[in-house]
Amino acid sequence: MNRLALLPTPLTEAPRLAGALGLAGSLLVKRDDLTGFAVAGNKARQLEPLLEDALRRQADVLLTGGSTGSNFIQAAAAGAAWAGLQCVLVLAGPPAAQPVHPNLAAALAWGAQLRYTGDLDRASVDDTLPVVAAELAAAGRRPYLVPRGGASPVGAMGYRAAVDEVLTQLAGRRPVVVVAAGAGGTLAGLVAGNVACGRPLRVVGASVSRPTDEVAARVLDLARQVAALREEPAPTAQDVELVDARGPGHALPSTDGEAAAATALRTAGLVLDPVYTAKALAVVPAVAAGRPALFWHTGGLLDAVAGWLGAGAAQTAGAPR
Ligand SMILES: Cc1ncc(COP(=O)(O)O)c(C=O)c1O
Repeated sequence: MNRLALLPTPLTEAPRLAGALGLAGSLLVKRDDLTGFAVAGNKARQLEPLLEDALRRQADVLLTGGSTGSNFIQAAAAGAAWAGLQCVLVLAGPPAAQPVHPNLAAALAWGAQLRYTGDLDRASVDDTLPVVAAELAAAGRRPYLVPRGGASPVGAMGYRAAVDEVLTQLAGRRPVVVVAAGAGGTLAGLVAGNVACGRPLRVVGASVSRPTDEVAARVLDLARQVAALREEPAPTAQDVELVDARGPGHALPSTDGEAAAATALRTAGLVLDPVYTAKALAVVPAVAAGRPALFWHTGGLLDAVAGWLGAGAAQTAGAPR
């Protein structure tokens, strides 16, 4: 399989943004908004091993799901098309109202077929995915089921490899790393990689959709499975650090996040989305506490567009998990 993501992504200095945020130390930005495939952001790193695994298992359908505003469903639809697989998406809630969220519009443009759970709770997707998988198998198809957000050990392997990449770029510098954490696959890969490399970094997840203790347990479990797959040292609970960055709730913009996003746009040309990256950048000053920081930009471009159009939260509010 050809590579999906164009790696390494740039690691850039953002001195004006650091000043505007009131950081005493320097600020680096890892540009995973520029992973170079579709509008996938961080999801390109996760989809690459997932698609490889799907093709190895001779699947012919990529089956996954999420909310109608999910960046992952959009990226999964693009990735499936790229790999020559059909894509079936199970979406929380009733059929989307007009105007359709840009992520859903993009997923449709890439040819995804949609199924709706009728229930806005995103947990309804988790219950429906195995049912749809069984239906597809009964119809003679070979589905490859990916959990919401690509948060499986195979998906998280993409971010295990990203640690080697960033350590090379850092060339001995040791900033505090802050990254948005939703389903947890991104953070799990980073934690597994950091442990495997001898814990050179402090990696902090900004939890945007779940209480921190809930995400910590998921991330530790995933990180341990990544370590087992790679036959590397297992992370412990102390390796998983999270701060609560939810603000008013998942998918609802926060005042701090909106301010951070406006500052990033105007001082560094960085486009942040209100659901993930804006909330993660907003916690950087408190987490870094005067030390050099690295903000891991995970993408979310179409969610940013939805936010500018006022179409973001309305599509996904009421979907607590
Ligand atoms: C823009 C963006 N950043 C961060 C994340 C969080 O990644 P993860 O679900 O792996 O925790 C997501 C997940 O959808 C995302 O879309």
